[in-house]
Amino acid sequence: MEFRELIQVRRSVRRFTGGVDHDDLAAILTQARQAPSWKNQQTARCYAVETPEVLEALGDAALPAFNRNSSRHAALVVTTYVKNVVGFGAEGPENEIGNGWGAYDLGLHDAYLILAAKNLGYDTLIMGIRDAGVIREKLGIPENEEIMSVIAVGRAGENPGPRPRKELEETVKFF
Ligand SMILES: Cc1cc2nc3c(=O)[nH]c(=O)nc-3n(C[C@H](O)[C@H](O)[C@H](O)COP(=O)(O)O)c2cc1C
Repeated sequence: MEFRELIQVRRSVRRFTGGVDHDDLAAILTQARQAPSWKNQQTARCYAVETPEVLEALGDAALPAFNRNSSRHAALVVTTYVKNVVGFGAEGPENEIGNGWGAYDLGLHDAYLILAAKNLGYDTLIMGIRDAGVIREKLGIPENEEIMSVIAVGRAGENPGPRPRKELEETVKFF
């Protein structure tokens, strides 16, 4: 898909009819790794859940009902970053942002992920409302990783229109 079109047609989808082929999911996660990162440290990590039993167990325990319903039938990708690496030097944090830089890098990674998915014919829903403690325990995610989002990836069962965006003048100042 042409890049401009990809940006325009991507939406958060809240009804899925199916998940994602394993090889396609691997391709999407491979492309997400092309995102830039602080000193190329690549601290983004993904836990890709495809197995129906694990999906059900994770969704039931870790997502509130509205996100569970929205993401039913989709694969779930939990994204995390390794803490205290990006944005840190030998003396500690490089600046006031601290681990915010790890979150920043993961956000870039996840942006690539959702666009790569769209480009392969899949849709996505990023979910920030989730129970990180339950996810950590169920997937065995180590304590040195910050759990950020759960991203549903699958075949869309709805075609939502575009959500409004603020005017450029409200969000950008040109100098
Ligand atoms: C960090 C983040 C967390 C989000 N968490 C949720 C969520 O928990 N549940 C949900 O339905 N949508 C969630 N969204 C989706 C946003 O509501 C959506 O991106 C926004 O309304 C713009 O719509 P669009 O993605 O279709 O352009 C989240 C998006 C982001 C980037």
